[in-house]
Amino acid sequence: MSDLATTPPGGPVDRYAVVGHPVEHSQSPFIHAEFARQTGQALHYGRLLVPLDDFAGALRRFVADTAGGPVRGCNVTVPFKFEAARLATRLTERARLAEAVNVLCFDGDDWLGDNADGIGLVRDIERNAGVRLAGARVLLVGAGGAAAGALGPLLQAGPAELVIANRTVARADALVQRHRAMAGAVQLRAALPAEAGTGFDVVVNATAASLQGADIPVPPGVFAPGALALDMMYGPAARGFIGWAEAQGARGRDGLGMLVEQAAESFARWRGVMPDTAPVLAALRARLAAAAR
Ligand code: ATR
Repeated sequence: MSDLATTPPGGPVDRYAVVGHPVEHSQSPFIHAEFARQTGQALHYGRLLVPLDDFAGALRRFVADTAGGPVRGCNVTVPFKFEAARLATRLTERARLAEAVNVLCFDGDDWLGDNADGIGLVRDIERNAGVRLAGARVLLVGAGGAAAGALGPLLQAGPAELVIANRTVARADALVQRHRAMAGAVQLRAALPAEAGTGFDVVVNATAASLQGADIPVPPGVFAPGALALDMMYGPAARGFIGWAEAQGARGRDGLGMLVEQAAESFARWRGVMPDTAPVLAALRARLAAAAR
């Protein structure tokens, strides 16, 4: 997909895009178009497929090409979230701790990097799924970019305990060390999946295991009765984990709510107005269900 997908069909308006590799299945253009319609904002949000070896160059060219209107920001998706953090000229505190960026705001030479994934996850768990994180026991499975983005906001929600389980335990350890100061009263520790423990109220799968056709990345028995089991992915990639969790009595949830909530946080940062996420999440679910038929 070329830069054409990022050029508005009408006159010049503020421009945004989701930047990644791949991006063709991204639902972000639909979500932001709905937010723009709902809030009466004139903008264009496209897709920018960038080569794996030239994220920085492709992004600079995108920002420099103002023919269709000024480029104000972008969302960054796999596999560029770490690179985006290094490219930003400034980072929010949560992006600095995550060392990963999924939102960029462009203002001349000032490239502000933020990470809205974690706050999106927390809002989806608390508001949309109705589960209180304060005092809960939380298991975060995975220690890559997705988990890193989630960790700070999860800690700030005040669980009693937060365990990060990863097959490469050193990566989980590094995340724990970086977030130690902000953990406060939260019992924060890293573990191998087999040693994560049992009785968690919330279990979040932030691994890429399903994409590789691998086994469920955590042993059975991790759930407390009625626990929430959330996979950050959606569609077929989330089905294995959710089905496995539901067979153990947990309540399964995919990553669509998190996707819409992080998009709303991005939109608010760019446009100064927070959209209503509920109708957009419902529309997105309907759209994906229709596409799957
Ligand atoms: P992302 O930005 O999507 O998080 P990533 O940084 O590559 O991508 O991280 C992927 C995560 O999925 C990591 O926690 C990874 O475990 P490792 O750190 O040990 O690599 C995890 N993961 C990937 N494939 C997996 C598999 N087959 N089984 C278990 N965990 C897996």
